Amino acid sequence: MAHLLSTSCPLKVASGCKLNSKPLSCDLVAFRTSSLSLQTSKSRFRMLVSNSERSKRNYTTHATTLPTSWQASNEPDTNFRQSSSEHSKPKRVLVIGGDGYCGWATALHLSNKGYEVAIVDSLVRRLFDHQLGLDSLTPITSIHNRIRCWKSLTGKTIELYIGDVCDFEFLSETFKSFEPNAVVHFGEQRSAPFSMIDRSRAVFTQNNNVIGTLNVLFAIKEFSEDCHLVKLGTMGEYGTPNIDIEEGYISITHNGRTDTLPYPKQASSFYHLSKVHDSNNIAFTCKAWGIRATDLNQGVVYGVRTDETEMHEELYNRFDYDGIFGTALNRFCVQAAVGHPLTVYGKGGQTRGYLDIRDTVQCVELAIANPANPGEFRVFNQFTEQFSVNELAALVTKAGEKVGIDVQTMSVPNPRVEAEEHYYNAKHTKLIELGLKPHLLSDSLLDSLLNFAIQFKDRVDIKQIMPSVSWRKIGVKTRTVAA
Ligand SMILES: NC(=O)c1ccc[n+]([C@@H]2O[C@H](COP(=O)([O-])OP(=O)(O)OC[C@H]3O[C@@H](n4cnc5c(N)ncnc54)[C@H](O)[C@@H]3O)[C@@H](O)[C@H]2O)c1
Repeated sequence: MAHLLSTSCPLKVASGCKLNSKPLSCDLVAFRTSSLSLQTSKSRFRMLVSNSERSKRNYTTHATTLPTSWQASNEPDTNFRQSSSEHSKPKRVLVIGGDGYCGWATALHLSNKGYEVAIVDSLVRRLFDHQLGLDSLTPITSIHNRIRCWKSLTGKTIELYIGDVCDFEFLSETFKSFEPNAVVHFGEQRSAPFSMIDRSRAVFTQNNNVIGTLNVLFAIKEFSEDCHLVKLGTMGEYGTPNIDIEEGYISITHNGRTDTLPYPKQASSFYHLSKVHDSNNIAFTCKAWGIRATDLNQGVVYGVRTDETEMHEELYNRFDYDGIFGTALNRFCVQAAVGHPLTVYGKGGQTRGYLDIRDTVQCVELAIANPANPGEFRVFNQFTEQFSVNELAALVTKAGEKVGIDVQTMSVPNPRVEAEEHYYNAKHTKLIELGLKPHLLSDSLLDSLLNFAIQFKDRVDIKQIMPSVSWRKIGVKTRTVAA
């Protein structure tokens, strides 16, 4: 396992660029990569920007690759769905976390469908990769190149605001400049193992996620009251109760009285807990301020290709396979491709909801095209099928046989604290009712995912595959995981 490098906390991406009220041409933007740079000291990496510096100049590269004018030729797609009222039909969508796995695919998809899209991203995820010595299986180019490439292929502009949503001044300027009708918020630290490395990563995760979302709520209240928030939550918020999981709410009769209440949450990592806090804050502000919000409790996402990302190699999405950020099916395909046994944690009966990344982008589009009403806190369970880890391993083994790979499976001690055999039945009908046409995990998809992993297998760092973070061993000491 490569070194998991210690960091000072809170981690911050800062830039020295001055705050601009209008997006700049990318070519003019002096995005200071030094703001992302780290210094090595006794095998530690530290952010160059200290907290005191941060308070003075903790933002903002604010950029767009191209002039912001909407291209006359870019007529909205005819499939553009009608929202419940013409008045609230969203056109301008701010995608927070738009440089990430789900966010990049979604930003392209929405742009392709005729929405005006702006991406907000602090690029902190690229920083985590540098710090931990990780890399995407697929080579991914800079966000600036990605957006330029999209423009040159399609003529469509995606604006870019580089900054941290925990920085309210940056976020305020972004809202005032872009004036979104909808915000899709993917911009969080999203790995449970990352949040369980040590105290500083736990604190970073909760600070980044909870404060970032709180800032988004305040920005909507202050600058864009009618804006619909589409927030990415996770099915992991519910845990694995021994009853069916409903979509957000459950009706309970207790001592002769009945009420419909938020479904109980049993999060199992500091990351999942940050999502529960987010959900509570969003629900409260819907009630108190009349904000309209949709919480998408997403299952585990697999796959890498969407119609848009496969248009050009500079549009490739990231594909994580390591023990920190790699999600189950993607990781198994890479393990099979390099002849590494599939790593099943514990008994392998852990069952979760899964979905294809093509359905992630479809679900988000459906949510923004059919917005929640003012004051409504709507919850959708966003997944299409359930699998246990053992079932996934069996599917990948079968797919391996077809391409002549002998896939082995090994059980490794479970680094997490979770039930390894349990009841699991989660409802997921609301997005289907809105028109979701799921891409179910078919043999052909698995074949292509496996072939994709084989295509890039020379880029795999085998040392990153095994789990390296234990839920039980987390301590206060900033942790370096030895290779
Ligand atoms: N990938 C999955 O399987 C999955 C499953 C369930 C839920 N989700 C949720 O979907 C969202 C996106 O996940 P992903 O897999 O695309 O993650 P990712 O790490 O690939 O992308 C997250 C992006 O957000 C950015 N970001 C993080 N904190 C930020 C901040 N404070 N300000 C601005 N930008 C910030 C990162 O730089 C990164 O580009 C997350 O909220 C995650 O919890 C993902």
